[in-house]
Amino acid sequence: MCGIVAYIGNQEAYPIILKGLQRLEYRGYDSAGVALLDQKLTIYKKKGKVAELEGSLIGKNLHAKSGIGHTRWATHGEPSDRNAHPHRSPSGKLAMVHNGIIENYAPIKKELQNKGYVFESDTDTEVLLYFIEDIYQNDATSLEEAVRIALKRIIGAYVIILLDEAHPDTLIAARKGSPLVIGIGKNEHFLASDASPIIEYTKEVVYINDYEMAIVKPDELILKNPGNERITPFITKLDMELAAIEKGGYEHFMLKEIFEQPTAVFDCLRGRLDAKAGTIRMGGIDKHLDLLKEAKRIILVGCGTSWHAGLLAEYVFEELCRVPVEVEYASEFRYRNPVINPGDVIIAISQSGETADTLVALENAKNQGAFIFGVVNVVGSSIARLSQAGAYTHAGPEIGVASTKAFTAQLTVLYLIAIKLGYAKGCLSRDRYLHLIGELALIPDKISEVLKSAPEVAALAEKYKDARDFLFLGRGYNFPIALEGALKLKEISYIHAEGYPAAEMKHGPIALVEDNLPVVFVATKDAYHDKLISNAQEIKARKGNVLAIISENDTVFQDIADETIAVPAADEMLAPLLSVVPLQLLAYYTGLAKGLDVDKPRNLAKSVTVE
Ligand code: F6R
Repeated sequence: MCGIVAYIGNQEAYPIILKGLQRLEYRGYDSAGVALLDQKLTIYKKKGKVAELEGSLIGKNLHAKSGIGHTRWATHGEPSDRNAHPHRSPSGKLAMVHNGIIENYAPIKKELQNKGYVFESDTDTEVLLYFIEDIYQNDATSLEEAVRIALKRIIGAYVIILLDEAHPDTLIAARKGSPLVIGIGKNEHFLASDASPIIEYTKEVVYINDYEMAIVKPDELILKNPGNERITPFITKLDMELAAIEKGGYEHFMLKEIFEQPTAVFDCLRGRLDAKAGTIRMGGIDKHLDLLKEAKRIILVGCGTSWHAGLLAEYVFEELCRVPVEVEYASEFRYRNPVINPGDVIIAISQSGETADTLVALENAKNQGAFIFGVVNVVGSSIARLSQAGAYTHAGPEIGVASTKAFTAQLTVLYLIAIKLGYAKGCLSRDRYLHLIGELALIPDKISEVLKSAPEVAALAEKYKDARDFLFLGRGYNFPIALEGALKLKEISYIHAEGYPAAEMKHGPIALVEDNLPVVFVATKDAYHDKLISNAQEIKARKGNVLAIISENDTVFQDIADETIAVPAADEMLAPLLSVVPLQLLAYYTGLAKGLDVDKPRNLAKSVTVE
């Protein structure tokens, strides 16, 4: 939520910041702004996407060697020029960008208003900036110290970066709960919410930890803890190429990422699964195998699509490992005072590794003694660093706001863990174990086959794009896929959609069925297939339209359904890796047919770093 970029060095700051904001736009696109410092501080900001800011600045003198920029996902105050960042302090000498939420801004604002301050915006950010400047001026202290004092009073999450007209050679940044990466160049530094604005300039980065402050000059990076002690920056080498964050000829990132799934799943299996030798090697699992084997309970924690991956993993772990499993929405889990016992293992699932609810839920569980295992995509992210062990999903950067390849990669990792653990615990016969790993190895090619149905799915999308509602039904392993299909369609096409276990339909949702309501059945062949056929008949009897994702050669469903999309045959447990793909395509093509911005759906942001 909200993307921030800053630069200090010898190059022109504006083009670097602008390009960085474009890369971070997935984090929010309600408004954008930059503050540039060339003797005097100049701030430009505009409601709307980064392109609108860029357009409004054509012809302006944007010369500056340091600057800060922001792309906003609104929390406090509607999207407007006034509420856009950077904000300016009352003296006009400081500018600040912020990602996060200041929860106790209201009492601080009151105090400042009592002192005579008048606010220009409705944001919590401006309150923090005014508070910092008040301390800076009245306590005759350095800006660094003023920031430190102010932050001691702040409740909430933040990354802030400040630019000070009096000290053009220094940026001050601080973090708690929101991400910040600093790229180290030659006599220059780049600051950003993630590494994507940085990689074309340098591969050497420092991930800033919670409660750390950075004092950044062109040729020096000083890190300090809240006690004002210096910390040695830990430099990491980025393992990411520029091409990975560009569209590579596709019209949208979402389509590119859907089509990258054969590679994403392959990369996830690479070096881990050896079908010929019949082995699964995973460093994070091998090292903690005994602990995992002895787990009394596994608790899967995530949000949104990652929660759906967790729900499917519940079915898989219980089946293969015979261990009790619970799946938790991180936002509920963190506040519910859950019972955590010794022997509980938490598996955290997150693409970004920065989701605020997931992060705090894990911190709480870790404090209560749970062991945290991370299934994360973004290397070096907060959740990855908080986890005691983990397995990266290796899906590569996911930029489209709707999660696609990260989901199939999460499932792949979770399957690998469950199969390995189930076999190690003796819950799986060797035959079943070898069968499953053999089947898993075939999945990347089978996804490639499914992708060939894209034109068929596009035609379906065109036909049903004006529907008001959609119902998605599935059972067993395909129930989480029905939820995921509904979520994708809602996000990208703004059509109301509900996912349900197919058998639950009779307990309420069937009342929604009327002439031509599109009902999508996730109906690949499995133990429930006959039951699903009956459910589809029930929809047909009420004049709904049945759209079904089926296994190839399923003539029974072909006869019942109005529309079918076939996927290759696969083990029923692994079939979700195939059945989800046409649903991702359906959402994409429906959004496209409706003329919507599929990479930046309204109101959403990719990395949800606020509550
Ligand atoms: C849906 C989507 C979101 C995320 C959720 C969790 O397409 O992308 O529902 O899955 O915000 O994000 P991560 O996985 O980054 O923790």
